[in-house]
Amino acid sequence: MILVTGSAGFIGANFVLDWFAQGEESVISLDKLTYAGNLENLASLKGDPRHIFVRGDIGDAELVGQLLRQYCPRAIINFAAESHVDRSIHGPEDFIRTNIVGTFHLLEAVRAYWSGLADAEKDGFRFLHVSTDEVYGSLAKDEPAFSETHRYEPNSPYSASKAASDHLVRAYHHTYGLPVLTTNCSNNYGPYHFPEKLIPLMIVNALAGKPLPVYGDGQQIRDWLYVKDHCSAIRCVLAKGRLGEVYNIGGWNEKANLDIVHTVCTLLDELRPRTDSKSYREQIVFVTDRPGHDRRYAIDARKIERELGWKPAETFDTGIRKTVRWYLDNQGWVGNVQSGSYRQWVEKNYAGRG
Ligand code: NAD
Ligand code: DAU
Repeated sequence: MILVTGSAGFIGANFVLDWFAQGEESVISLDKLTYAGNLENLASLKGDPRHIFVRGDIGDAELVGQLLRQYCPRAIINFAAESHVDRSIHGPEDFIRTNIVGTFHLLEAVRAYWSGLADAEKDGFRFLHVSTDEVYGSLAKDEPAFSETHRYEPNSPYSASKAASDHLVRAYHHTYGLPVLTTNCSNNYGPYHFPEKLIPLMIVNALAGKPLPVYGDGQQIRDWLYVKDHCSAIRCVLAKGRLGEVYNIGGWNEKANLDIVHTVCTLLDELRPRTDSKSYREQIVFVTDRPGHDRRYAIDARKIERELGWKPAETFDTGIRKTVRWYLDNQGWVGNVQSGSYRQWVEKNYAGRG
């Protein structure tokens, strides 16, 4: 079996669901269930004997050690993290605690377990760390996309904490020989995306008749990848990646934020027109920019294609249409995640942005 951390979050849940769509190997899920963790994402697995869910912290080395000894997974996929840049600006501490200290404790527990394995199991074991393109910093308009050798220049508390975790993972390979793999992926979108992030927030706000808040001039560029393509890339790296290597994952889909918001509005105009027949674009408002806002991310995904033969299956057009459809078809899920703590966050982040 494999152990997946952060499996009740956006990408982790998609990964576990897709894993079972591909094969029969069991999964043990470890998730702290923070505001971003939602067991409803895994509801279709209820009662499935292949899936064991444990609520817990990756920083709890005793718990992780006990799970490793009990279930003897052949691999660990580490998705668990605090993931939202704006939250890291308002309160960095949780990011340091989970992304840096938590990853350290997880690595220590894994090292102790791995050291005690017999040689054959030791050789076959993998620790796959899921990271982000944000560790590379911000690109100017004409600079080449981030390759795996681009220097680390994280700009937000979130990206700095992810960069630190990447360095720890690298060091555990270099120093102790732990068989690690690291992936650095661009912006994901798709089902189960928590509506604090750009695309789901725009869909949810549009349908609720609320403003669509675009930070600054809306010309910041992100490189978008449909979440299921990220999951297939991780499966590919797990199966074929070279030990100690880093693989950048991206969809070759650079888009300005304002264009993303326009696309979402156009799709909603088609699929769920406003009752007054006006476009959802009427709801766009420009608000104060994110402090330290990175201008452009772009991933050079040639290494994973060349070495492992991975390519995304979705274009942005097909992926965004599926995504908007999913939110229209899953309004119950949206309602359930908009808890009291979600509403408090929305007030905190957007109050005073003007
Ligand atoms: P998310 O915030 O939706 O989910 C994170 C999950 O981790 C939640 O279920 C949460 O409960 C859990 N978690 C948080 N702290 C924990 C802890 N201490 N112990 C155990 N579980 C804990 O995040 P996501 O968007 O699914 O991102 C998953 C991973 O992928 C993160 O490591 C993130 O840095 C990385 N990543 C995300 C994107 C993206 O566009 N969303 C892109 C590239 C990389
Ligand atoms: O690049 C990968 C990263 O993508 C991941 O590592 C992070 O975990 C993930 O959250 C995401 O970070 P971003 O900051 O790029 O995503 P977010 O959806 O928060 O914002 C996308 C862009 O949209 C960014 O330029 C800020 C802008 N934005 C965001 C929100 C929430 C707005 O203009 N308005 C908004 O209300």
